[in-house]
Amino acid sequence: MKLPRITLSCLGLLLLLGHWHFGEGSESGWDGEQDCQRLMVNDMDTGEASCENFHQHACGNWYANSTQRGFGAHDRRSQWAALHKQRLVQHFDGLSLKAESNHLATFYGSCMSGLQSLRIYTEALERRAYWPLLNTSSAFASANDAAFDWVAANAGLRRFGAQGLWRLLVQPNWQAADQSIFYLLPPGFELLGGNSMSEFLYQRYLKSLLLELGLRVRRASALAERLVKFERDLRDLLPADVEQTLVLREPQSLSQLDQQLPQLQIRRYFDLLLQGLSSGATEKLLVVADLEYLSRLQRLLGRTDSADPLVLSTWLLLQLPAHFELYLHDDEKLNVRQRHCLEQLSQLLPRQLSQLQIRLSLGDDPVAYEALVLRVQRLFVRLQLQFERQLNETDVFEADRSTQTLAIQKLRDMRLVLPQIVPEEKPVSRPLSSSYDENLLQLSQSRAMAEFRQVVDCQDQICGDSPPVEGFGLDPLSVNAYYRLKQNAIELPLGLLTSPLLQRCSNTIDQASRQAGGMGSILGHEMVHAFDYDGINYDATGQLANGQWPPRAIIRFGLRAGCYLGARYSNATLTINENIADTEGLRLAFEAYRHHRAYRGVTDPRGLKTFFVAFAQNWCGNAPSSGGDSSNAGTGQHAAHSERVNNVLGNFPEFLEIFQCKAASQMSPSDKCRIW
Ligand SMILES: *[C@@H]1O[C@H](CO)[C@@H](O)[C@H](O)[C@H]1NC(C)=O
Ligand SMILES: *[C@@H]1O[C@H](CO)[C@@H](O)[C@H](O)[C@H]1NC(C)=O
Ligand SMILES: *[C@@H]1O[C@H](CO)[C@@H](O)[C@H](O)[C@H]1NC(C)=O
Ligand SMILES: *[C@@H]1O[C@H](CO)[C@@H](O)[C@H](O)[C@H]1NC(C)=O
Repeated sequence: MKLPRITLSCLGLLLLLGHWHFGEGSESGWDGEQDCQRLMVNDMDTGEASCENFHQHACGNWYANSTQRGFGAHDRRSQWAALHKQRLVQHFDGLSLKAESNHLATFYGSCMSGLQSLRIYTEALERRAYWPLLNTSSAFASANDAAFDWVAANAGLRRFGAQGLWRLLVQPNWQAADQSIFYLLPPGFELLGGNSMSEFLYQRYLKSLLLELGLRVRRASALAERLVKFERDLRDLLPADVEQTLVLREPQSLSQLDQQLPQLQIRRYFDLLLQGLSSGATEKLLVVADLEYLSRLQRLLGRTDSADPLVLSTWLLLQLPAHFELYLHDDEKLNVRQRHCLEQLSQLLPRQLSQLQIRLSLGDDPVAYEALVLRVQRLFVRLQLQFERQLNETDVFEADRSTQTLAIQKLRDMRLVLPQIVPEEKPVSRPLSSSYDENLLQLSQSRAMAEFRQVVDCQDQICGDSPPVEGFGLDPLSVNAYYRLKQNAIELPLGLLTSPLLQRCSNTIDQASRQAGGMGSILGHEMVHAFDYDGINYDATGQLANGQWPPRAIIRFGLRAGCYLGARYSNATLTINENIADTEGLRLAFEAYRHHRAYRGVTDPRGLKTFFVAFAQNWCGNAPSSGGDSSNAGTGQHAAHSERVNNVLGNFPEFLEIFQCKAASQMSPSDKCRIW
């Protein structure tokens, strides 16, 4: 069978086959109505001609102040994320006065206190396995090393959410998205990194942990060196081009996998991992495994030189504190630490944090959130309808009516997934303490168990028809939007929903045009991903449907899409799907908005200008860059912000007309791309 090859850049997203994008905003608390025109004009540089460089025209006066930069702002989207974080920090800082206490505040306070202890991690592990290094009475003699059970140690780590010799993830089954299964993959080696500098720093870090465990300096140095060597050996098990490719295999049962790799004792690993959860039928659990890595690992562990029990056990032992980045944030500036603590909160207590976030951005009005959801759902439906009109009219499907019907069906079946804000069913089992380490371990353990339960319950048929999407896209701080190919669904996290994009404006024309250009273009962008070069390979249920489109339709599609490979797109072959989604998505938003205006009888031309400014202002600032902060270079699969805006608008004759651009102006390229 044919296996899809996919790019491995961010594993979490990758396995969900997601796309990410977008962003906008600048104002704080937005429960009231705003003068949106004033806000938009504020960011503009009207000295720059709109027909020469519209990005500069719309965003030239935009900036992120030092507080916002401290929270990671470099463009519109990250500015909104910074806004959420700043608001949360202010909230927590103000709490001690009010003496209000809850899990969020307790956890945040313990995190910020900076008082941590390695012992708490090693003691937690001692309850799950025997660790030669921790047996002081053996005086580090290796006589007792044989008692070390690496399988139990490896499983013990994972019960706290840390990874050991492999990375175990719970993700939707790539063949059947409504089922969660296990993925067994190589570790990420985040701290070891890939260069001598990162290896040096990592070795120094491991040495400091060993010193804290009571080892003498010379011994700690020597052992740290061996640990790093061991991890390099593990990393070398990855194929040379790893970095980036992973072939997804068919899921197999645990007992099959266990037979293939007997020395790894994978079955026993799962039995230990799922203790107390499973009804005992682990042999049928489904696993997608990286067999190449695992069989090389099996060989490595069989070699006595590399698998010295003291090295192996100590390496595993230190993976737990390393997973929680113990002491790594000690020297950081206050705001870096605040960001770190908020990120932990959003991972470990996402539901509670979501509720707080809604309260902070929308106030205490119980229906404010529902009103917001309604606004975005209306936008979504209008875009869907608009896309259907275009699919009806396009000649891409000429003589391929059945393909057209399938495409329309896929569009109609597309879902909009919004955060469901429901209170925690079973909040936190034990109250949190003032020890950050204990809180981390406790919450990570409950999270890991909840994750495993998802798989086990489905296996036991308890999950019924509703897919267990717990934790899926639940990061309340994320200011982003995703199209999930495998689910045919657009997902909007809370951070985007509560950004100023859906804010109410005192002028209704401003509000409609701003929402259509801002949020509408984001939704349109995601919607078009269902029909870009990747999207057309998947059907309405998110299944790979190779051959659903006949060659004739693909050729017609390709002839039009070819325009996006033109000279004005840099790195065009890498960014083509994004460029398609940008322009075609704005097209949907624009046409839907025009329909809406006509329906309402609006003729004021200002709204049309506002629409384009709102779109462009989603992209104020610069894309994140790996090098200097000021670099304007595009990263990954997206083009630079200014290029995205200007290239997209150049495809719109309507834009040129509304802003009265001459044919010779910078904003008016001779080739104008349009597929749908
Ligand atoms: C930056 O802007 C935020 C509002 O988003 C404000 O709360 C903060 O005080 C400003 N910081 C500075 C240094 O002006
Ligand atoms: C620790 O080491 C001593 C001496 O080698 C041994 O007798 C003892 O059983 C070990 N402790 C544990 C918990 O295994
Ligand atoms: C698209 O065409 C179909 C079949 O002719 C029709 O039923 C449907 O209403 C059309 N959709 C729109 C949005 O015009
Ligand atoms: C093109 O892509 C490469 C590799 O991803 C990148 O290094 C380069 O900066 C990109 N160029 C532009 C103009 O975006």
